[in-house]
Amino acid sequence: MHIYLILLALIGTIWASLFIYKIFSFIYIYFLRRSKILVYHHHHHNSSAPPWAIITGSSDGIGKQYAYELAKLNFNIVLHGRNATKLHHVRTELHDSFPHLSFRVIVADASKSGPEATSHIKEIVDSLRDLHVTILINNVGTGGHIDGSVYSEIQDTPTEDIDHLINLNARFPAHFTRAVVSLLLSHGGPALILTMGSMAEFGMPQLSLYSATKCFDMAFSRALRMEMMLAGRKNVEVLGIMTGSVTGVTHNESQSTLLMPDSAAFARAAIERVGCGEDVVAATWAQGIVYKMVGAMPLALRDRSLEAGVKEDMEMRERNAKKA
Ligand SMILES: NC(=O)c1ccc[n+]([C@@H]2O[C@H](COP(=O)([O-])OP(=O)(O)OC[C@H]3O[C@@H](n4cnc5c(N)ncnc54)[C@H](OP(=O)(O)O)[C@@H]3O)[C@@H](O)[C@H]2O)c1
Ligand SMILES: *[C@@H]1O[C@H](CO)[C@@H](O)[C@H](O)[C@H]1NC(C)=O
Ligand SMILES: *[C@@H]1O[C@H](CO)[C@@H](O)[C@H](O)[C@H]1NC(C)=O
Ligand SMILES: *[C@@H]1O[C@H](CO)[C@@H](O)[C@H](O)[C@H]1NC(C)=O
Repeated sequence: MHIYLILLALIGTIWASLFIYKIFSFIYIYFLRRSKILVYHHHHHNSSAPPWAIITGSSDGIGKQYAYELAKLNFNIVLHGRNATKLHHVRTELHDSFPHLSFRVIVADASKSGPEATSHIKEIVDSLRDLHVTILINNVGTGGHIDGSVYSEIQDTPTEDIDHLINLNARFPAHFTRAVVSLLLSHGGPALILTMGSMAEFGMPQLSLYSATKCFDMAFSRALRMEMMLAGRKNVEVLGIMTGSVTGVTHNESQSTLLMPDSAAFARAAIERVGCGEDVVAATWAQGIVYKMVGAMPLALRDRSLEAGVKEDMEMRERNAKKA
């Protein structure tokens, strides 16, 4: 009898200690530690020019805000997108705000795939070989179909949208990362690969392709992190950003809230998390709590909250569409 009580007490103590440890590490990550982003601000051995950050999908939304935040920290920036006009506009804006920095534009439609698209990626990354690159942000991605709609049941999802979402959210980041890693490793100094995930990873109804491709992104990021470790590349950080709703992005200019920060605040928060040691982390503490809670919920409860979230968003979009 006694031995069971002791065992029970032991398990209870271990469980409680783990729980307390998790709470303290959460507080440490979001409120106490400082970002290690400046570790990646180092120079080429024969130059005093600032290092470069490459950000995919940076003509708008969160990607554009990453560009601003990193420029504030004195990084030169490579902007990527599909629309040259829009990209040059962002480049001019950035140049006006940060005249001492350099900005380059690369244009590649991430929704294309096949040998031609892959060799185009190689070409544009080759054109960056003269740069001292220390950061890659895999940001490009979309939940939207070609026609701009978002939700659909799988049997009603146009086949071309399946390829569109897989290309944009999975194939392109994989090929692009492969090409850029050689630049990141070439100098032997600290380097960062940051990749955008989504809370949709839990499996959102009527968002099956988006959910699946965002799962791909985070599994890819986790694997690369381990790959760098195994190869003894201790100064290469690979971090996944678990992303909840963000406003101030294309097609969404809603008022920001605690749980739905605007893209600028979100980019700042994600940069704050750099060096935290996690494999995948939410950018803000509020989204962090939601991420942990949803992960820990019993399935029935999780089902109901994801369902409610999607329903509410669909209704809101319908109302907005009627207004417009
Ligand atoms: N916003 C959210 O609530 C949310 C939630 C979870 C995860 N995320 C993730 O965060 C990342 C950024 O999202 P966002 O909300 O900032 O999106 P966004 O405002 O739509 O911006 C996406 C960026 O990617 C570019 N892009 C889109 N399609 C492209 C293509 N075919 N080829 C090349 N570039 C293309 C866009 O260029 P254009 O300027 O030409 O459109 C834009 O620069 C994505 O990975 C997304 O999955 C966002
Ligand atoms: C640095 O050295 C490389 C070759 O090692 C050379 O191509 C490059 O021009 C040099 N950069 C500067 C700023 O001197
Ligand atoms: C590219 O961006 C410009 C400026 O925002 C816009 O006027 C134009 O329609 C866009 N082109 C395409 C093909 O979307
Ligand atoms: C903006 O995104 C939030 C969260 O996904 C959603 O509730 C809201 O309806 C969106 N607004 C528009 C105008 O699409």
